[in-house]
Amino acid sequence: MSDKVKISLGKESHEFPLIKGSENELGIDIKDLRSRTGLITYDPGYKNTGSCISDITFLDGEKGILRYRGYSIDDLANNLTFLEVAYLLIWGELPNQKELSNISNEIKKASSIDKDLEQILKSFPSKAHPMGILCSLTSALISFNPSSVDVSSNEKMFRASIELMAKFPILVSWVHRKINGLSMNKSDSKFSYTENLAQMMFKSSDDYKPNPIIIDALDKLLILHADHEQNCSTSTVRIVGSSHAGMYASISAGISALWGPLHGGANQAVIEMLEKIKADGGNTKRYLEKAKDKNDPFRLMGFGHRVYKNFDPRAKIIKKTADQVLTKLGISDPVLDIAKALEEEALNDDYFIKRKLYPNVDFYSGIIYRALGIPTEMFTVMFALGRVPGWIAQWKEMRLNKEPIGRPRQIYKGHNLRSF
Ligand code: CMC
Repeated sequence: MSDKVKISLGKESHEFPLIKGSENELGIDIKDLRSRTGLITYDPGYKNTGSCISDITFLDGEKGILRYRGYSIDDLANNLTFLEVAYLLIWGELPNQKELSNISNEIKKASSIDKDLEQILKSFPSKAHPMGILCSLTSALISFNPSSVDVSSNEKMFRASIELMAKFPILVSWVHRKINGLSMNKSDSKFSYTENLAQMMFKSSDDYKPNPIIIDALDKLLILHADHEQNCSTSTVRIVGSSHAGMYASISAGISALWGPLHGGANQAVIEMLEKIKADGGNTKRYLEKAKDKNDPFRLMGFGHRVYKNFDPRAKIIKKTADQVLTKLGISDPVLDIAKALEEEALNDDYFIKRKLYPNVDFYSGIIYRALGIPTEMFTVMFALGRVPGWIAQWKEMRLNKEPIGRPRQIYKGHNLRSF
Protein backbone atom coordinates (compact mmCIF):
# COMPACT_ATOMS: atom_id res chain seq x y z
CA MET A 1 0.00 0.00 0.00
CA SER A 2 1.17 3.51 -0.82
CA ASP A 3 2.23 5.67 2.12
CA LYS A 4 0.56 8.69 0.54
CA VAL A 5 -3.01 9.81 -0.11
CA LYS A 6 -3.84 11.79 -3.23
CA ILE A 7 -6.40 14.59 -3.11
CA SER A 8 -7.58 15.77 -6.54
CA LEU A 9 -9.11 19.16 -7.05
CA GLY A 10 -10.01 19.86 -10.69
CA LYS A 11 -6.81 19.32 -12.66
CA GLU A 12 -4.56 19.66 -9.65
CA SER A 13 -3.67 16.79 -7.38
CA HIS A 14 -1.77 16.83 -4.11
CA GLU A 15 -0.23 14.03 -2.13
CA PHE A 16 -0.39 13.89 1.65
CA PRO A 17 1.56 11.46 3.82
CA LEU A 18 -0.10 8.65 5.71
CA ILE A 19 0.73 8.51 9.38
CA LYS A 20 0.79 5.16 11.16
CA GLY A 21 0.26 4.48 14.86
CA SER A 22 2.01 1.76 16.86
CA GLU A 23 -1.09 -0.47 16.54
CA ASN A 24 -1.13 0.16 12.75
CA GLU A 25 -4.01 2.62 12.81
CA LEU A 26 -3.76 5.00 9.85
CA GLY A 27 -4.43 8.70 9.39
CA ILE A 28 -3.84 11.29 6.71
CA ASP A 29 -1.42 14.00 7.74
CA ILE A 30 -3.13 17.17 6.48
CA LYS A 31 -1.09 19.69 8.47
CA ASP A 32 -0.33 21.69 5.28
CA LEU A 33 -3.64 21.07 3.49
CA ARG A 34 -4.71 24.70 3.60
CA SER A 35 -1.36 26.22 2.69
CA ARG A 36 -1.08 23.88 -0.31
CA THR A 37 -4.68 23.72 -1.54
CA GLY A 38 -6.62 26.55 0.11
CA LEU A 39 -9.00 23.92 1.50
CA ILE A 40 -9.98 23.11 5.03
CA THR A 41 -11.75 19.96 6.28
CA TYR A 42 -15.30 19.98 7.70
CA ASP A 43 -15.83 17.49 10.52
CA PRO A 44 -18.43 18.53 13.15
CA GLY A 45 -17.83 16.86 16.49
CA TYR A 46 -14.33 15.85 15.20
CA LYS A 47 -15.70 12.38 14.37
CA ASN A 48 -12.76 11.70 11.99
CA THR A 49 -10.16 14.13 13.28
CA GLY A 50 -7.01 13.16 15.14
CA SER A 51 -5.94 16.18 17.16
CA CYS A 52 -2.61 14.90 18.46
CA ILE A 53 -0.08 12.10 18.60
CA SER A 54 -0.18 10.49 22.02
CA ASP A 55 1.51 7.60 23.81
CA ILE A 56 -0.76 7.50 26.86
CA THR A 57 -3.90 5.48 26.06
CA PHE A 58 -4.76 3.09 23.24
CA LEU A 59 -8.39 2.41 22.39
CA ASP A 60 -9.76 0.19 19.63
CA GLY A 61 -13.51 0.82 19.52
CA GLU A 62 -14.18 -1.96 17.00
CA LYS A 63 -12.46 -4.63 19.09
CA GLY A 64 -13.39 -3.18 22.50
CA ILE A 65 -9.75 -2.74 23.61
CA LEU A 66 -8.53 -0.19 26.17
CA ARG A 67 -4.93 0.08 27.39
CA TYR A 68 -3.07 2.63 29.49
CA ARG A 69 0.62 2.92 28.52
CA GLY A 70 0.35 -0.52 26.88
CA TYR A 71 -1.26 -2.37 29.81
CA SER A 72 -4.75 -3.84 29.37
CA ILE A 73 -7.51 -2.25 31.43
CA ASP A 74 -8.45 -5.70 32.81
CA ASP A 75 -4.94 -6.29 34.18
CA LEU A 76 -4.79 -2.83 35.70
CA ALA A 77 -8.28 -2.86 37.24
CA ASN A 78 -7.91 -6.37 38.66
CA ASN A 79 -4.42 -6.07 40.12
CA LEU A 80 -3.50 -2.51 41.05
CA THR A 81 -4.58 0.41 43.20
CA PHE A 82 -5.70 3.72 41.75
CA LEU A 83 -2.50 5.40 42.98
CA GLU A 84 -0.31 2.90 41.08
CA VAL A 85 -2.34 3.47 37.89
CA ALA A 86 -2.19 7.24 38.41
CA TYR A 87 1.62 6.95 38.59
CA LEU A 88 1.66 4.91 35.40
CA LEU A 89 -0.42 7.48 33.53
CA ILE A 90 1.42 10.57 34.78
CA TRP A 91 5.01 9.26 34.75
CA GLY A 92 4.75 6.61 32.03
CA GLU A 93 5.85 3.45 33.91
CA LEU A 94 4.49 1.39 36.78
CA PRO A 95 6.12 2.48 40.06
CA ASN A 96 8.49 0.23 42.00
CA GLN A 97 8.02 0.01 45.79
CA LYS A 98 10.36 2.95 46.45
CA GLU A 99 8.67 5.20 43.87
CA LEU A 100 5.23 4.27 45.16
CA SER A 101 6.05 4.98 48.76
CA ASN A 102 7.73 8.24 47.71
CA ILE A 103 4.63 9.61 45.93
CA SER A 104 2.38 8.26 48.64
CA ASN A 105 4.40 10.16 51.29
CA GLU A 106 4.59 13.32 49.19
CA ILE A 107 0.81 13.22 48.66
CA LYS A 108 0.24 12.76 52.40
CA LYS A 109 2.44 15.82 53.14
CA ALA A 110 0.45 17.89 50.61
CA SER A 111 -2.97 16.72 51.84
CA SER A 112 -4.30 19.93 53.29
CA ILE A 113 -6.04 22.93 51.80
CA ASP A 114 -5.86 26.58 52.77
CA LYS A 115 -8.59 27.46 55.29
CA ASP A 116 -9.77 30.36 53.12
CA LEU A 117 -10.95 27.89 50.49
CA GLU A 118 -13.35 26.44 53.04
CA GLN A 119 -15.00 29.87 53.19
CA ILE A 120 -15.71 29.64 49.46
CA LEU A 121 -17.23 26.19 49.99
CA LYS A 122 -19.45 27.54 52.78
CA SER A 123 -20.75 30.33 50.58
CA PHE A 124 -22.35 27.92 48.06
CA PRO A 125 -26.13 27.51 48.40
CA SER A 126 -27.08 24.17 49.92
CA LYS A 127 -28.83 23.11 46.69
CA ALA A 128 -25.80 23.83 44.45
CA HIS A 129 -24.86 20.91 42.16
CA PRO A 130 -21.67 19.16 43.37
CA MET A 131 -20.05 19.47 39.91
CA GLY A 132 -20.55 23.25 39.97
CA ILE A 133 -18.95 23.43 43.41
CA LEU A 134 -16.06 21.14 42.41
CA CYS A 135 -15.34 23.13 39.30
CA SER A 136 -15.32 26.42 41.19
CA LEU A 137 -13.13 25.04 43.99
CA THR A 138 -10.62 23.67 41.47
CA SER A 139 -10.47 27.09 39.83
CA ALA A 140 -10.09 28.65 43.27
CA LEU A 141 -7.08 26.40 43.98
CA ILE A 142 -5.26 28.40 41.28
CA SER A 143 -5.47 31.58 43.34
CA PHE A 144 -3.82 29.78 46.25
CA ASN A 145 -1.12 28.37 43.95
CA PRO A 146 -0.83 31.15 41.38
CA SER A 147 2.49 30.17 39.78
CA SER A 148 1.81 28.62 36.42
CA VAL A 149 3.34 25.15 36.03
CA ASP A 150 6.69 25.17 34.25
CA VAL A 151 6.32 22.05 32.16
CA SER A 152 10.00 21.92 31.21
CA SER A 153 10.99 21.45 34.87
CA ASN A 154 10.55 17.83 36.05
CA GLU A 155 10.67 19.00 39.65
CA LYS A 156 7.94 21.65 39.20
CA MET A 157 5.77 19.28 37.17
CA PHE A 158 6.23 16.59 39.85
CA ARG A 159 5.23 19.02 42.59
CA ALA A 160 2.16 20.30 40.67
CA SER A 161 0.97 16.73 39.98
CA ILE A 162 1.45 15.72 43.64
CA GLU A 163 -0.40 18.83 44.84
CA LEU A 164 -3.38 18.18 42.60
CA MET A 165 -3.50 14.44 43.37
CA ALA A 166 -3.37 15.34 47.09
CA LYS A 167 -5.91 18.15 47.10
CA PHE A 168 -8.53 16.78 44.73
CA PRO A 169 -9.80 14.01 47.09
CA ILE A 170 -10.12 16.65 49.82
CA LEU A 171 -12.28 18.81 47.52
CA VAL A 172 -14.37 15.75 46.60
CA SER A 173 -14.93 14.87 50.26
CA TRP A 174 -15.76 18.50 51.08
CA VAL A 175 -18.40 18.58 48.36
CA HIS A 176 -19.81 15.24 49.54
CA ARG A 177 -19.98 16.35 53.19
CA LYS A 178 -21.41 19.76 52.26
CA ILE A 179 -24.36 18.40 50.25
CA ASN A 180 -25.08 15.93 53.05
CA GLY A 181 -24.93 18.70 55.70
CA LEU A 182 -21.96 17.02 57.48
CA SER A 183 -18.83 18.54 59.00
CA MET A 184 -15.49 18.00 57.22
CA ASN A 185 -13.12 15.14 58.01
CA LYS A 186 -9.39 15.87 57.83
CA SER A 187 -6.97 13.84 55.75
CA ASP A 188 -5.37 11.05 57.82
CA SER A 189 -1.85 9.92 56.92
CA LYS A 190 -2.27 6.45 58.42
CA PHE A 191 -4.48 5.48 55.48
CA SER A 192 -3.67 4.62 51.86
CA TYR A 193 -4.78 7.04 49.12
CA THR A 194 -8.16 5.39 48.51
CA GLU A 195 -8.78 4.56 52.19
CA ASN A 196 -8.12 8.21 53.01
CA LEU A 197 -10.66 9.30 50.39
CA ALA A 198 -13.22 6.93 51.91
CA GLN A 199 -12.57 8.08 55.50
CA MET A 200 -12.78 11.76 54.49
CA MET A 201 -16.12 11.07 52.77
CA PHE A 202 -17.73 8.59 55.14
CA LYS A 203 -16.11 8.67 58.61
CA SER A 204 -18.71 9.33 61.29
CA SER A 205 -16.83 8.29 64.45
CA ASP A 206 -13.24 8.00 65.71
CA ASP A 207 -13.23 4.20 65.48
CA TYR A 208 -13.75 4.31 61.67
CA LYS A 209 -12.19 1.36 59.84
CA PRO A 210 -12.07 1.28 56.03
CA ASN A 211 -14.23 -1.51 54.58
CA PRO A 212 -12.03 -3.47 52.10
CA ILE A 213 -15.06 -4.15 49.85
CA ILE A 214 -15.66 -0.41 49.50
CA ILE A 215 -11.97 0.40 49.01
CA ASP A 216 -11.56 -2.27 46.35
CA ALA A 217 -14.67 -1.06 44.49
CA LEU A 218 -13.50 2.56 44.67
CA ASP A 219 -10.03 1.62 43.38
CA LYS A 220 -11.59 -0.24 40.44
CA LEU A 221 -13.99 2.56 39.53
CA LEU A 222 -11.28 5.22 39.73
CA ILE A 223 -8.90 3.11 37.59
CA LEU A 224 -11.58 2.54 34.95
CA HIS A 225 -12.18 6.29 34.71
CA ALA A 226 -8.52 7.34 34.86
CA ASP A 227 -8.03 8.07 31.15
CA HIS A 228 -9.84 7.62 27.86
CA GLU A 229 -7.69 9.37 25.23
CA GLN A 230 -9.17 12.35 23.39
CA ASN A 231 -12.72 12.45 24.81
CA CYS A 232 -14.64 15.73 25.26
CA SER A 233 -13.20 16.74 28.65
CA THR A 234 -9.63 15.67 27.85
CA SER A 235 -9.73 17.51 24.54
CA THR A 236 -10.98 20.51 26.51
CA VAL A 237 -8.05 20.23 28.93
CA ARG A 238 -5.60 20.02 26.01
CA ILE A 239 -7.17 22.87 24.02
CA VAL A 240 -7.36 25.20 27.04
CA GLY A 241 -3.78 24.28 27.94
CA SER A 242 -2.69 24.92 24.35
CA SER A 243 -3.16 28.65 24.98
CA HIS A 244 -0.55 28.11 27.75
CA ALA A 245 -3.21 28.46 30.46
CA GLY A 246 -1.99 26.68 33.62
CA MET A 247 -2.70 23.07 34.51
CA TYR A 248 -5.31 23.79 37.21
CA ALA A 249 -7.19 26.22 34.92
CA SER A 250 -7.18 23.66 32.10
CA ILE A 251 -8.41 20.87 34.38
CA SER A 252 -11.12 23.08 35.83
CA ALA A 253 -12.37 23.59 32.24
CA GLY A 254 -12.22 19.80 31.74
CA ILE A 255 -14.47 19.32 34.80
CA SER A 256 -17.09 21.58 33.21
CA ALA A 257 -16.95 19.56 29.99
CA LEU A 258 -17.28 16.31 31.93
CA TRP A 259 -20.47 17.51 33.66
CA GLY A 260 -22.68 17.21 30.57
CA PRO A 261 -25.09 14.24 30.39
CA LEU A 262 -23.65 13.05 27.06
CA HIS A 263 -20.24 12.69 28.76
CA GLY A 264 -19.50 12.06 32.47
CA GLY A 265 -22.90 13.37 33.59
CA ALA A 266 -24.42 10.24 32.04
CA ASN A 267 -23.80 8.27 35.26
CA GLN A 268 -26.24 10.51 37.13
CA ALA A 269 -28.67 10.48 34.18
CA VAL A 270 -28.61 6.63 34.09
CA ILE A 271 -29.75 6.24 37.69
CA GLU A 272 -32.39 8.93 37.25
CA MET A 273 -33.63 7.07 34.15
CA LEU A 274 -33.66 3.69 35.94
CA GLU A 275 -35.53 5.22 38.90
CA LYS A 276 -38.11 6.66 36.49
CA ILE A 277 -38.57 3.26 34.86
CA LYS A 278 -38.96 1.68 38.30
CA ALA A 279 -41.58 4.26 39.30
CA ASP A 280 -43.32 3.48 36.00
CA GLY A 281 -43.76 -0.16 37.06
CA GLY A 282 -40.48 -1.39 35.50
CA ASN A 283 -41.81 -0.99 31.95
CA THR A 284 -38.43 -1.24 30.17
CA LYS A 285 -40.03 -1.85 26.75
CA ARG A 286 -41.79 1.53 26.82
CA TYR A 287 -38.46 3.29 27.42
CA LEU A 288 -36.73 1.30 24.71
CA GLU A 289 -39.44 2.43 22.28
CA LYS A 290 -39.01 6.04 23.43
CA ALA A 291 -35.24 5.79 22.84
CA LYS A 292 -35.86 4.59 19.28
CA ASP A 293 -38.46 7.26 18.49
CA LYS A 294 -36.73 10.07 16.57
CA ASN A 295 -39.49 12.52 17.61
CA ASP A 296 -38.79 11.83 21.27
CA PRO A 297 -35.71 13.52 22.77
CA PHE A 298 -35.27 10.58 25.19
CA ARG A 299 -32.06 8.54 24.76
CA LEU A 300 -31.08 5.38 26.53
CA MET A 301 -28.56 6.87 28.93
CA GLY A 302 -25.41 4.79 29.49
CA PHE A 303 -25.75 3.35 25.98
CA GLY A 304 -23.74 4.16 22.88
CA HIS A 305 -20.29 5.63 22.50
CA ARG A 306 -18.48 7.77 19.96
CA VAL A 307 -15.60 5.32 19.67
CA TYR A 308 -16.80 1.92 20.95
CA LYS A 309 -18.78 0.03 18.33
CA ASN A 310 -18.46 -3.08 20.46
CA PHE A 311 -18.68 -3.72 24.21
CA ASP A 312 -17.05 -0.96 26.24
CA PRO A 313 -14.43 -3.06 28.12
CA ARG A 314 -14.94 -0.85 31.18
CA ALA A 315 -18.68 -1.65 31.23
CA LYS A 316 -17.93 -5.40 31.32
CA ILE A 317 -15.72 -4.99 34.41
CA ILE A 318 -18.18 -2.61 36.07
CA LYS A 319 -21.17 -4.91 35.53
CA LYS A 320 -19.30 -7.79 37.19
CA THR A 321 -18.13 -5.51 40.01
CA ALA A 322 -21.71 -4.24 40.59
CA ASP A 323 -22.90 -7.80 41.07
CA GLN A 324 -20.00 -8.65 43.42
CA VAL A 325 -20.25 -5.46 45.50
CA LEU A 326 -24.00 -5.72 46.03
CA THR A 327 -23.72 -9.39 46.99
CA LYS A 328 -20.79 -8.79 49.38
CA LEU A 329 -22.51 -5.81 51.00
CA GLY A 330 -25.80 -7.73 51.19
CA ILE A 331 -27.66 -5.06 49.22
CA SER A 332 -30.50 -5.83 46.88
CA ASP A 333 -31.15 -2.96 44.48
CA PRO A 334 -34.18 -3.41 42.17
CA VAL A 335 -32.63 -0.90 39.82
CA LEU A 336 -29.85 -3.43 39.02
CA ASP A 337 -32.47 -5.88 37.74
CA ILE A 338 -34.08 -3.14 35.65
CA ALA A 339 -30.66 -2.24 34.20
CA LYS A 340 -29.94 -5.88 33.30
CA ALA A 341 -33.38 -6.30 31.66
CA LEU A 342 -32.93 -3.07 29.70
CA GLU A 343 -29.46 -4.13 28.55
CA GLU A 344 -30.68 -7.51 27.37
CA GLU A 345 -33.63 -6.05 25.47
CA ALA A 346 -31.47 -3.36 23.84
CA LEU A 347 -28.78 -5.84 22.80
CA ASN A 348 -31.45 -7.94 21.04
CA ASP A 349 -33.18 -5.01 19.39
CA ASP A 350 -32.49 -4.24 15.70
CA TYR A 351 -32.24 -0.47 16.31
CA PHE A 352 -29.37 -0.93 18.79
CA ILE A 353 -27.76 -3.80 16.86
CA LYS A 354 -27.71 -1.83 13.59
CA ARG A 355 -26.18 1.23 15.23
CA LYS A 356 -23.75 -0.86 17.33
CA LEU A 357 -24.98 0.67 20.58
CA TYR A 358 -23.67 -1.13 23.68
CA PRO A 359 -23.69 -0.27 27.39
CA ASN A 360 -20.89 2.15 28.23
CA VAL A 361 -18.89 2.80 31.42
CA ASP A 362 -21.73 4.83 32.94
CA PHE A 363 -24.47 2.20 32.64
CA TYR A 364 -23.63 0.24 35.80
CA SER A 365 -21.22 2.56 37.67
CA GLY A 366 -24.00 4.49 39.45
CA ILE A 367 -25.40 1.28 40.91
CA ILE A 368 -22.05 0.65 42.62
CA TYR A 369 -21.69 4.26 43.79
CA ARG A 370 -25.08 4.14 45.40
CA ALA A 371 -24.32 0.82 47.11
CA LEU A 372 -21.25 2.58 48.58
CA GLY A 373 -23.49 5.34 50.00
CA ILE A 374 -22.64 8.02 47.44
CA PRO A 375 -25.60 10.23 46.43
CA THR A 376 -26.63 10.40 42.75
CA GLU A 377 -25.53 14.01 42.27
CA MET A 378 -22.01 13.06 43.39
CA PHE A 379 -21.46 10.40 40.69
CA THR A 380 -19.87 12.74 38.14
CA VAL A 381 -17.64 14.18 40.87
CA MET A 382 -16.32 10.63 41.44
CA PHE A 383 -15.71 10.30 37.69
CA ALA A 384 -13.76 13.59 37.77
CA LEU A 385 -11.61 12.34 40.65
CA GLY A 386 -10.72 9.23 38.65
CA ARG A 387 -9.92 11.29 35.55
CA VAL A 388 -7.43 13.63 37.30
CA PRO A 389 -4.27 11.58 36.49
CA GLY A 390 -5.38 11.26 32.86
CA TRP A 391 -5.93 15.01 32.58
CA ILE A 392 -2.52 15.71 34.18
CA ALA A 393 -0.78 13.26 31.80
CA GLN A 394 -2.56 14.65 28.73
CA TRP A 395 -1.91 18.29 29.68
CA LYS A 396 1.78 17.53 30.27
CA GLU A 397 2.12 15.60 27.00
CA MET A 398 0.47 18.39 25.03
CA ARG A 399 2.84 21.01 26.44
CA LEU A 400 5.98 18.82 26.15
CA ASN A 401 5.09 18.08 22.51
CA LYS A 402 4.88 21.84 22.00
CA GLU A 403 1.48 21.52 20.36
CA PRO A 404 0.28 24.73 18.69
CA ILE A 405 -2.71 26.62 20.06
CA GLY A 406 -5.94 24.74 19.29
CA ARG A 407 -7.92 26.80 16.87
CA PRO A 408 -10.35 25.06 14.48
CA ARG A 409 -11.55 26.80 11.31
CA GLN A 410 -15.13 27.14 10.05
CA ILE A 411 -17.17 27.37 6.87
CA TYR A 412 -18.96 30.71 7.00
CA LYS A 413 -22.59 30.55 5.80
CA GLY A 414 -23.83 33.95 7.01
CA HIS A 415 -24.68 37.13 5.11
CA ASN A 416 -22.32 38.53 2.50
CA LEU A 417 -21.36 42.19 2.94
CA ARG A 418 -24.50 44.25 3.53
CA SER A 419 -24.89 48.01 3.22
CA PHE A 420 -25.25 49.62 6.63
N1 CMC B 1 -30.16 5.94 22.71
C1 CMC B 1 -30.80 5.92 21.51
N2 CMC B 1 -30.20 6.15 20.33
C2 CMC B 1 -28.90 6.42 20.34
C3 CMC B 1 -28.15 6.45 21.53
C4 CMC B 1 -28.83 6.20 22.76
N3 CMC B 1 -28.16 6.23 23.92
N4 CMC B 1 -26.87 6.74 21.25
C5 CMC B 1 -26.81 6.89 19.93
N5 CMC B 1 -28.03 6.70 19.36
C6 CMC B 1 -28.36 6.71 17.93
C7 CMC B 1 -28.43 8.13 17.40
O1 CMC B 1 -29.74 8.66 17.51
C8 CMC B 1 -28.00 7.94 15.96
O2 CMC B 1 -29.09 7.38 15.26
P1 CMC B 1 -29.30 7.72 13.67
O3 CMC B 1 -28.12 7.12 12.97
O4 CMC B 1 -30.60 7.09 13.33
O5 CMC B 1 -29.34 9.22 13.59
C9 CMC B 1 -26.93 6.84 16.06
O6 CMC B 1 -27.28 6.10 17.23
C10 CMC B 1 -25.51 7.39 16.20
O7 CMC B 1 -25.48 8.24 17.34
P2 CMC B 1 -24.74 9.63 17.41
O8 CMC B 1 -25.45 10.53 18.37
O9 CMC B 1 -24.48 10.16 16.05
O10 CMC B 1 -23.35 9.17 18.03
P3 CMC B 1 -22.28 10.08 18.72
O11 CMC B 1 -20.99 9.40 18.55
O12 CMC B 1 -22.38 11.49 18.23
O13 CMC B 1 -22.73 10.11 20.27
C11 CMC B 1 -22.99 9.48 22.53
C12 CMC B 1 -22.19 9.27 21.24
C13 CMC B 1 -22.27 8.80 23.68
C14 CMC B 1 -23.06 10.99 22.86
C15 CMC B 1 -24.42 8.89 22.35
O14 CMC B 1 -24.34 7.50 22.11
C16 CMC B 1 -25.32 9.16 23.55
O15 CMC B 1 -25.93 10.24 23.63
N6 CMC B 1 -25.40 8.20 24.54
C17 CMC B 1 -26.16 8.43 25.75
C18 CMC B 1 -25.34 9.28 26.72
C19 CMC B 1 -24.22 8.49 27.36
O16 CMC B 1 -24.41 7.40 27.85
N7 CMC B 1 -23.01 9.11 27.42
C20 CMC B 1 -21.85 8.51 28.07
C21 CMC B 1 -20.75 8.17 27.11
S1 CMC B 1 -19.50 7.09 27.84
C22 CMC B 1 -18.79 8.01 29.13
C23 CMC B 1 -17.85 9.01 28.62
O17 CMC B 1 -16.66 8.71 28.43
O18 CMC B 1 -18.27 10.16 28.42
